[in-house]
Amino acid sequence: MTTTLPSPAVLGARAFAALAGLNRFSDEPGKLTRLYLSPSHRQGAEYVKGAMEVAGLTAFIDAAGSVQGRREGASPGLPAVMIGSHIDTVRDGGRFDGNLGVVAGILAAQAIRDAGITLPFALEVIAFGDEETVRFPTSLSTSAALTGRYDQGWLTARDADGVVLRDALTAFGGDPAGIAALARKPGSVKAYLEVHIEQGPVLEAENEAVGIVTAIAAQGRAGVRVTGEAGHAGTVPMKLRKDALAAAAEMALALEAIAHEHERAVGTVGVFRPDPGATNVVPGAVDFTIDFRAPEGATVAGMDAEIHRRFAEIAARRGVSLTITPYSRGDAVPMDEGLQEAFATGIARTGSNLTARRLPSGAGHDAMEMAKLCPAAMLFVRCEKGISHSPLENMTELDAGIAIRVLIETILELARREG
Ligand code: GLV
Ligand code: MN
Ligand code: MN
Repeated sequence: MTTTLPSPAVLGARAFAALAGLNRFSDEPGKLTRLYLSPSHRQGAEYVKGAMEVAGLTAFIDAAGSVQGRREGASPGLPAVMIGSHIDTVRDGGRFDGNLGVVAGILAAQAIRDAGITLPFALEVIAFGDEETVRFPTSLSTSAALTGRYDQGWLTARDADGVVLRDALTAFGGDPAGIAALARKPGSVKAYLEVHIEQGPVLEAENEAVGIVTAIAAQGRAGVRVTGEAGHAGTVPMKLRKDALAAAAEMALALEAIAHEHERAVGTVGVFRPDPGATNVVPGAVDFTIDFRAPEGATVAGMDAEIHRRFAEIAARRGVSLTITPYSRGDAVPMDEGLQEAFATGIARTGSNLTARRLPSGAGHDAMEMAKLCPAAMLFVRCEKGISHSPLENMTELDAGIAIRVLIETILELARREG
């Protein structure tokens, strides 16, 4: 059945060519920045739609801005196996984060079609658009549209320039009123599979090309606003100041300390915006974000409580006011055991030199949200030096090809299980 499938070397070359095509589209020249609903997101989505059509999928850009492609199975309307990831990026991000998984799905669908294989399920590929949560304070909103958990309040969220998500979505060509109808019926998606660069150093250290994700870490995110009193940097005596930035800085260090206090926990302040932000003005207000994660949900819940307690103590001592607006709080998400086994079979069929190494994910993924709808699983691909969310993110062409061949073999294993 599998003798006509392309080799990992061929699949890797195809993947790198497709990634080069997709990654031409960026909001910033010389960098890869593709924010949700930006003009380059639209261009990238059109490119992905075209590539899906070449692969024999019927494709469209949906109301929330995701690209959806589908090829029917042995008969029309069967439940689908869905392969997905995202095409939005962080600012000045890497070439593979998200993009690889989308390209992998398209190339797998193409190879299965070219091999003349009819599947006992529909095959869908999806390119989500809002995984990074960089532009708006949402939480995996485009995959939440499919799971029926889209928070309509997100439509009124604003980006840093004050643009409202609803308006950005309309300008993109999406349809705010059509989002509710994107929700999939339970049972209509049999499985969700996502290929993703590891974004960490484990596979490289262990000389493994791919690994199977066991669970995705629990995480919390919030926006914090500290309001003090703006004043003249030369005239307001230190004792009379209500410096919002000094208070916010102390909170950032408190978050770092809280993360250190819990095993395998992490805490990050990634955005920090003083207002008005001038050399000779005592900052009157600061907006910043907090992101905190740990393997267990209970640890994240404990960190959340501790953050509230210590931030409030700092605010009271310094005479500033504090607002913490949660964006998201999610428990750890275990990946489906049966699909992990299917990936293990796919790995074994791809090469006797490969092993089914299992590892957890510290990063968040659309698979976390899709697991609310259907069994979900992820395959990680070796990442050079573990670097990600950086233009230095890298992997080899062959590893990309191995991952796509494993994905194909895994889809065929799921087909066999139907038999
Ligand atoms: C997504 O990249 C995340 O923040 O984990
Ligand atoms: Mn990602
Ligand atoms: Mn990312």
